[in-house]
Order: sequence, then structure tokens, then C-alpha cells
Amino acid sequence: MSKINTKVTDSVNFFQGNKPSELTAKFGSPLYVYNERILRERCRELKHLVDYKNFIVNYSAKANSNLAFLEIVNEEGLYVDAMSPGEIYVELKAGFKPEQIFYISNNVSKEEMQYAIDHNILISVDSLAQLEQYGQINPGGKVAIRFNSGVGAGHHEKVVTGGKKTKFAVNPEYIPEVREILKKYDLKLVGINQHIGSLFMEGDKYIEGVKAILEIVKQFDDLEFVDLGGGFGIPYEKLNDQPRLDLKDLGTKLNKVMEDFAKEYGKEITFKIEPGRYISAECCVLLGTVHAVKQNNVHKFAGTDIGFNVLQRPVMYDSHHDIEVYNDSDETEEITVVGNICESGDILAKDRMLPVINIGDTIGLLDAGAYGYSMASNYNNRLRPAEVLIRENGEAVLIRERDELEDLTRHMISLKK
Ligand code: LLP
Repeated sequence: MSKINTKVTDSVNFFQGNKPSELTAKFGSPLYVYNERILRERCRELKHLVDYKNFIVNYSAKANSNLAFLEIVNEEGLYVDAMSPGEIYVELKAGFKPEQIFYISNNVSKEEMQYAIDHNILISVDSLAQLEQYGQINPGGKVAIRFNSGVGAGHHEKVVTGGKKTKFAVNPEYIPEVREILKKYDLKLVGINQHIGSLFMEGDKYIEGVKAILEIVKQFDDLEFVDLGGGFGIPYEKLNDQPRLDLKDLGTKLNKVMEDFAKEYGKEITFKIEPGRYISAECCVLLGTVHAVKQNNVHKFAGTDIGFNVLQRPVMYDSHHDIEVYNDSDETEEITVVGNICESGDILAKDRMLPVINIGDTIGLLDAGAYGYSMASNYNNRLRPAEVLIRENGEAVLIRERDELEDLTRHMISLKK
């Protein structure tokens, strides 16, 4: 059995013969490292979630929109959602066809809507005002509407997107107004979508949300699709043996709901789901280097180069990421792992039992592929790290260069002539 130091990555042969410290020596530290085999496995698991025939997995690219990453998702036959023209732009570059992209907009300008229309990409709007705006610029066009079925779920209040407190979606009580606007601009409503929130570990809430949105769907004839949203969780506490989401059980339940609904609706309507995290989180380890170890009053700190500009999740949502320490320590101790940003809140893990850490060690933050790089910033004028992909043959290739100092001033305009 492998030591706790590398237990999780060993169990899936994550590094495939590459040594973490050699990867950072070659590509720089910190470093986002992805494993292609695991990414492909996750895509395939969800593609086969249900037997229902007209089923499409739209990968939610906000979780990770690296070009090479999207190219792999595209090769696996998934489609994508987009949250901005920027995501649409990268998705088209990655090889997705316009009809494979679904733009789930929220409070967007006319210009942003026009960008999608010009590229023949279907838009979902999520307010009466935005439906009106869409009608004005694309009368006679096709459109989807995001409804709030009243069900919400998520790992933190910031990521619950259904229910009473959210800015998203149209409440069903406005269906009469929706119909009026559709009629006024001769719009064809082709789909209804929802997203109840991010990260559920038990399928029941999702199924509840599905049933609730289908009650809304029933009120519209002749839709082409229903998009049920994402939120499929992954176990972030693997070192505590947190169980996985039971996909088989969820798939069986979903399948039944879909089959039953198709019968009732009188047509094999297409069902879509929109997972981001489930596809992208676990195929990535974020490597960093320890530059200081010190005792400050009651806490022992390991100071690393992984600031919250590199990985925001622990600071933003108190999220847990397991940590591996790539050294030979057999002893463990309680330590707080922090970054190099000038805020006391720059904490990756508080009072965590970890193998004893020494200066110069390489550490790995696990399951960092979802909302990791995509939420990274240049705060403190730090350079965003490189991204590397371990190909199926074990070769580590660069898929994004690390920022350079010149990037920091690329769009700044000096007052000096
Ligand atoms: N569809 C829509 C409309 C969404 O807003 C989202 C996520 C997804 C799908 C994908 O959700 P997923 O399957 O990844 O849970 N930054 C947060 C998560 C924010 C999720 C935003 N919306 C985090 O790091 O946990």
C-alpha cells in the first residue's frame, strides 16, 4: 500500500511515471497538471449516464476552458455550454460546431447576444427583460428560457442557483408574460433549461429539481429539448474515504423520469445535462513549492507559492482540497498551508494533519481542475501558472504557458510618451 504522501495519486496512477518535482523544475511552480486518461474516463462515464436515446452531455466550460482540454472533450463527443462570448470563442476554436454550443446567458448586452446570433449559437435567456431584448434583435428567431423550478442545491450559498434567493432564471408565475413576448416577436421557444446549483453528492435533490422543471416544460408544446443543468459532485475528501456520487443509481432514476416524461409529452424530447466539475475536477493536481516553514504562536505554517490568485476555492467558499506532500516523511503533524498573497485569509488548508513538510518540498492540491485555473488571477501582479497535460502515453506536454512579466502591462497605457 502506498504512503499517505501519494496515496490518492498512486491509486489512479495520476503522474504516470512523471515525478512532481521534475515537472515543476521543467515547467515552473506552481503548475496545473492534468491527466488526459482520467479526463476521458469522466467524459465517458457521463455520456453513458442513461440509456435514454436523445441524451446530450453539455460540458460546462466555465469549470475549465483550456483550449487543449476542450479539444479532448470535443473528441469524446460531448457538447458544451458557454457563459460568455469569450467561452464561445474558445469553444469554436476547439472544434465545437455552433449547434453543439449552448449559450446560457445572464444579464448580457445586446452586443453579446448579437455575437452568439452571428455565430448561429442558440441562446438561453433568463429574464423577461432579456427575452424582450432578444426579440428586438432577433425577431422570428429560436430561443431557450431558463426557468427557476424552485429547487436549489449546492456546496455553498454562493453557488446555489435555484430557489427563492437567486438572481437566476424566470419564475414560472411569469409564464403568461413569457408567452406574450414570444408572440410579440414571433420567437420560437425550442428549449427550457435550469441549473439548481453546484455540487451535490446525493442524486435526490437533482431528481427533485428535474421533476419540478418538467412540470414547467409540460406547459409548453413542441419543445425540442430540456436542459437539466449541472452540479454533479466529486469527493474532495478522498483521504477521509468520502464516497463518490452514486452515478449508477442517479442514472437509473433519471432514465426512468426521462422515459416516463417522453411518453407523457408524446415525443422523444432531447434531454441535456451540464456538468462542469464532474468532468474537470479530478483529472488535475495543482503542484506548488514550499518556501518557508514557521511557527507563529499556536499555528505551524507551511508557506507555499500557491496563493489564492492561483486557486481561489478555499478562500472563496472554504472549500476543502486534499493535499499530498511529495517527500519521504513517515511522520505527520498538524500544519496550516498558506500562499504568498498579502492577505491573512490566503489559506489553502487550516490545521491539517499532513506528512511533515520541509522547505523545498513539492506539494499537490488534489481535484483542482474545476474552477481552478479558470478562476485564477494576477492579483498582487503574480504570474498565472502554466498548465501541463500528461498524455495517455505518459508524456507531459505544455498546454498553456505561464504568464510572463510583460503580460502584466500588455494592456496598460503609460502616461509617459
Ligand atoms: N450550468 C450552469 C448554468 C452553471 O451556472 C454551472 C455552474 C454549471 C452548469 C456547472 O456546474 P457544475 O457541474 O460544475 O457544478 N466556482 C464554484 C462553482 C460555481 C458554479 C457556477 N455555475 C466552485 O469552485 O465551486
